[in-house]
Amino acid sequence: MAALSLTPAQLTRWRKKLDEALKVTRDLPWRNTRDPWFILLAEVMLQQTQAARVIDPYRAMIATFPNPEAMAQAPQADVVRLWAGLGYNSRAVRLHRCAKTIVERFDGIVPSEESALLSLPGIGSYTARAIMVFAFEQDHGVLDTNVSRVLSRLVAGQALTRNQAQLLVDALVIPGRAWTFNQALLDHGATICKSTPDCESCDLRRRCTWARRGFDQPDPASVSALAPTKQATFAGSNRQLRGSLVSLARDHSLDAASLSKLHGAFGVDRVDAALAALEAEGVLVKEKKVWTLA
Ligand code: ADE
Repeated sequence: MAALSLTPAQLTRWRKKLDEALKVTRDLPWRNTRDPWFILLAEVMLQQTQAARVIDPYRAMIATFPNPEAMAQAPQADVVRLWAGLGYNSRAVRLHRCAKTIVERFDGIVPSEESALLSLPGIGSYTARAIMVFAFEQDHGVLDTNVSRVLSRLVAGQALTRNQAQLLVDALVIPGRAWTFNQALLDHGATICKSTPDCESCDLRRRCTWARRGFDQPDPASVSALAPTKQATFAGSNRQLRGSLVSLARDHSLDAASLSKLHGAFGVDRVDAALAALEAEGVLVKEKKVWTLA
C-alpha cells in the first residue's frame, strides 16, 4: 500500500479540527463508568456485535458479575446463559477464563498495562487499547474497522495498512482528550461515515480528503487492511447451527428429538462436526449421551 505522507503541520491541523468537530453522540451505558471490569465486559461483548444489541446483556452482566471474582466463582454455564443473543459463544467461555486469570494472576484487579492485558484470554490488541483508553484514560488511539474506515476516507484519502492506521490514530490524539476523541470517532464511524456514508449529515464533508477528490473509486476504506470481509449468509450457516445447538443446551432441550430436527435441516455430519467443535472449545459437554452447557 502507498506510504502515508502527512506533514507535521497537517497532522496538527487535523488534530485540532477533529477535536472541534467530532462529538460523542450516543448515550451508551458503558460510557457512564470508568470501572475497568465493566469496561472490559462491554468491550468483549462489543467485539463483532453492534452496540444496540449489547446494551441489555451488558446491564445483566454487570448486575450479575459486579467484579472479576464474582464471575470467576460462578459456573461457566452462567456466563454462557447471559450471553444469549450475542453470538459466537466461545467468547463467553474466554470471558470466564479471563475473569479467573484476573483473580489468579492479578489479585482480582484488571491490569492497566498493554502487555498484561494482552496476556488475558479473549483480549486482543483492540480490546486492550479500548480498556487502556476508556477505563484508565490513557493517551492512545483505539483502532477498529469503523475507525479505520473514517481515517482512510477523511484524513488519508487512501487505503491504510493496519500499522499505518494505528500510527495515524495515535498521532491524532490530543494528550488528555483520548477518551472523548476515541468515543467520538467510534460514533462518527457508526452513525455518519458508515460503509455507505451519510455525507449529507457530515460536518467534516468540506474537509474530507476522499470527498474533495470527488469520491474517486475504489472507496479507500473498502481496500484498507481492516475492511470487514463480507459475512456469509446466516441461514443454513455453521454460525446458525452452532447458535441453535447452544441455545437448545441453554434451555436444557438439546435432546434426541431436537437433534433429529437439526439432522434433517443440516445433515448428520455437519451437526456432529459442530458438536465436536463446541466440545473442543469448552462450550458444551456430553454426559451420559446428553449435551449440556459446560
Ligand atoms: N464499539 C466498540 N467499543 C465501543 C464503545 N466504547 N462505544 C461504542 N461502540 C463501541
